[in-house]
Amino acid sequence: MSKFPKNFLWGGAVSANQTEGAYKADGKGIAYTDILPGGKVRLEQYLNNTLSLEPDESKYFFPNRDGIDFYHMYKEDIALFAKLGFNSYRTSIAWTRIFPNGDETEPNELGLKFYDKVIDELLRYNIEPVITISHFEMPLNLIKKYGGWKNRQLIDFFVRFATVLFERYKGKVKYWLPFNEINIAFSFPICTLGYTADISTSQGAKDILQGLHHQLVATAKVVAIAHKIDSQFRVGGMLILEPAYANSCNPQDVRAAQYSEQIITGYCGDVHVMGKYPAIAKRLWQEKGIELDITLDDLDSFVKGKVDFLSISYYKSRVEKSVDKCENAWGIFSGVPNPYLKASDWGWEIDPMGLRIGLNALYDRYDIPLFVVENGFGAVDKVESDGTINDDYRIDYLRQHIYALQETIKDGVAIMGYMTWGSTDMVSAGTGEFSKRYGFVYVDRHDDATGTFERKCKKSFEWFKKVIASNGEDLE
Ligand code: BG6
Repeated sequence: MSKFPKNFLWGGAVSANQTEGAYKADGKGIAYTDILPGGKVRLEQYLNNTLSLEPDESKYFFPNRDGIDFYHMYKEDIALFAKLGFNSYRTSIAWTRIFPNGDETEPNELGLKFYDKVIDELLRYNIEPVITISHFEMPLNLIKKYGGWKNRQLIDFFVRFATVLFERYKGKVKYWLPFNEINIAFSFPICTLGYTADISTSQGAKDILQGLHHQLVATAKVVAIAHKIDSQFRVGGMLILEPAYANSCNPQDVRAAQYSEQIITGYCGDVHVMGKYPAIAKRLWQEKGIELDITLDDLDSFVKGKVDFLSISYYKSRVEKSVDKCENAWGIFSGVPNPYLKASDWGWEIDPMGLRIGLNALYDRYDIPLFVVENGFGAVDKVESDGTINDDYRIDYLRQHIYALQETIKDGVAIMGYMTWGSTDMVSAGTGEFSKRYGFVYVDRHDDATGTFERKCKKSFEWFKKVIASNGEDLE
């Protein structure tokens, strides 16, 4: 039985804000990611709601400002991806390069020119670009002046931004993802909505769900526009997939896991694919005591802007316990430890079967092509004295997940492609570290802001090259 289909997309994925650097080049505006400190303090600030929009410049290092200097090194990096055999590559477009403050009416031509060059370079090597329109990055001005995504005006700003991209890259880019991990807003609203909020309070829930609603409307509107501009465009939803397991067969635990799936995956997934909120949403709004601003036009947009496919990131599963704790049983990275699984140094449990379980569940519910656009292993890599980097742990991780994907395909699930997170190393989104590395290509950049940005291929580079060349047959 053939494992991977003939035109399967193999590639790597990154985001603009974690790689490009050049944070003020060619008219780029300041993004919220440019004011994020490096190191674990970032995560603490997220979790304690203490992130400042005016950070103390003398106190912190801001790693996203230089990223891995992809802005100047894109040719070298893309040549390496071609050598690896990628037939696809996912990156995002920095909103702040195109609309520096987010609310301008005319785009910044110099910003567009940079992406013209990147996209043309990819196409030159027959690498299919997969473009995320907004990946954890937005103009700081949209947060300061408008309050982020809880403000309905952002829908229009985003639609204008997306439309410029669709017009510009018609005939060049086929695959588009409007928002990266739209459903992470339940746990880390700052990443996507532009503000911190506590979902367990009524006000926090309102801020999160209203911001999310605006993003869901924006997604549906740009899907409809994309289809009008170019009938070849394929626009996908993008969810963080974290299948929830019940802690035991106690029905209380089973319901907790089910509820968390209904909310974390179903809330956005249903709107994207079925054009309406799931039935459980009403109960959620009632229990939180909130009324959202949802217009008839919004509901109409949902129906007219259904996605062509669903894409997912997958890193881990989670375990949920007790229906009484449902209030909190829906947070990504919440839950209790799974005694059957080992974890990475960052505590992310390694669970290849979770990928198969999650994809099967999605396909059963939505019956729509699925695309794995992120999966990978964050680890500390050591450069040996002979210059080699022997990342066998990463090979093991990827091998097991690709194997699980083969099984998923044999289960009958339609999978479009598989992209690893971090073809090159980059700044970690959650903790702002360079030491949490994901790439096949090592980048000489460190948490103390030292390094030359030199690229070095790791052992996993040659391994993944073989995997792609054999269309997933050779995983040894
Ligand atoms: C995903 C994001 O959630 O996880 C990426 O889409 C991120 O932007 C990736 O980098 C891994 O998370 P981290 O915190 O290890 O960088």
